[in-house]
Amino acid sequence: MNVYDSERMAELMDTEGYEQTDDMSDADMVVLNTCHIREKAAEKVYSELGRVRKNKEKRSGQGKDTIIAVAGCVAQAEGEEIIRRAPIVDLVVGPQSYQNLPKLLNEFKTSKKPVIETEFPEEDKFGKLPGITASSPCSFVTVQEGCDKFCTFCVVPYTRGGEFSRGAKQIIDDANRLVEQGVRELTLLGQNVNAYHGEGLNGKDWSLARLLDELSKIDGIERLRYTTSHPRDMEDDLIELHRDNPKVMPYLHLPFQSGSDKILKDMNRRHTRDFYIELVDRIRDAQPELALSTDIIVGFPGETDKDFQDTMDLVETIGYASAYSFKYSPRPGTPAAEIEEQIAEDVMKERLAILQKRLSGQQKFFNESKVGSQMTVLLEKIGKKEGQLIGRSPYLQSVHIETDHAKIGDMVDVTIKSATSTSLQAVINSSS
Ligand code: 5AD
Ligand code: SF4
Repeated sequence: MNVYDSERMAELMDTEGYEQTDDMSDADMVVLNTCHIREKAAEKVYSELGRVRKNKEKRSGQGKDTIIAVAGCVAQAEGEEIIRRAPIVDLVVGPQSYQNLPKLLNEFKTSKKPVIETEFPEEDKFGKLPGITASSPCSFVTVQEGCDKFCTFCVVPYTRGGEFSRGAKQIIDDANRLVEQGVRELTLLGQNVNAYHGEGLNGKDWSLARLLDELSKIDGIERLRYTTSHPRDMEDDLIELHRDNPKVMPYLHLPFQSGSDKILKDMNRRHTRDFYIELVDRIRDAQPELALSTDIIVGFPGETDKDFQDTMDLVETIGYASAYSFKYSPRPGTPAAEIEEQIAEDVMKERLAILQKRLSGQQKFFNESKVGSQMTVLLEKIGKKEGQLIGRSPYLQSVHIETDHAKIGDMVDVTIKSATSTSLQAVINSSS
């Protein structure tokens, strides 16, 4: 979602006469879009600001001004503290107010004093943004933001705020606009995307399944995905859509965080291990081809060896095509950070290494299971090798293809020749 937000900010500043540059020494304005989810990400902002400060000083020696903005969830969570720690920062703008960036910039230019905006305004920020532009045949569209779940480890409900769903009309307009620019695959984004309940075209609340179904009717949209889903919000209509709508890809990111019921309870996840296993069974019944992905945290306060073993067992029971796993990171203001029994760093490190080794093995196994099979790949970008293009399989695997005739945006039928733990190699079928 930060990538998506950064693109929207760039579009917005474009309307103010700015242009994007890859070279910071060229930039009259630098916007750092930041993440607060774990301490490492949040602290990175300050080391990055050191680099930005050096650049500002260098430019200043050449008689050029540089405006520095910090956006995103660190801005939201730390507000004024950012200016205190890094006085070179001119603008601090939270993820729910970046639509006001031009206005804030003008305020700064007039007052010459740092401007901080971390409100959660009532207005719909999407309505104030310029029309969406595509940067690839695969595009994101935010349909939902914020979260009401309050897992005890997580900052999202505080930094992104409560759940908000955009209306279907706006989303369909965005999708049509993107299709006109050559987009063929849409990924609907939301912190808790399957809790989507926006206003439908008929004025009634629509579920995510209803929205996906409507989007699948747009000519030109070939593939639909959505992320990230909460197990508790995986409703029957969404599960059935995986069976009934061929444009909905056989891929699902479904975090479980821990395999231990005790830890799940302390995390306030509101689901058990058995609930998750039964849910996955039902989704796989509907779509046997499904590639499943997840998020897992090790070292949540109070996690014993047995709890960790339960996580390993759950990984074994389910079998993942890919997964993201993290060491628990205490976040200020969240209930879990107050729990006394925090886990030692070396224990977390060891557990993470064991878990990641197994997950990487499962990913390799999944990739290898596709060798020899045929599938359709949407070509997305240029590869590192001469004549190589990289595309996505229906299961979100990265597929490398050497070709002298296919181009980005093409959907090509291929045969998979080999696999590694991170990608597939394929050749285009002669009739394609
Ligand atoms: N520490 C470690 N990982 C976290 N996540 C969220 N909060 C924390 C935290 N405090 C992970 C969860 C979530 C993903 C986006 O980040 O696994 O699903
Ligand atoms: Fe954070 Fe996801 Fe839990 Fe919401 S459901 S609080 S975003 S981990």
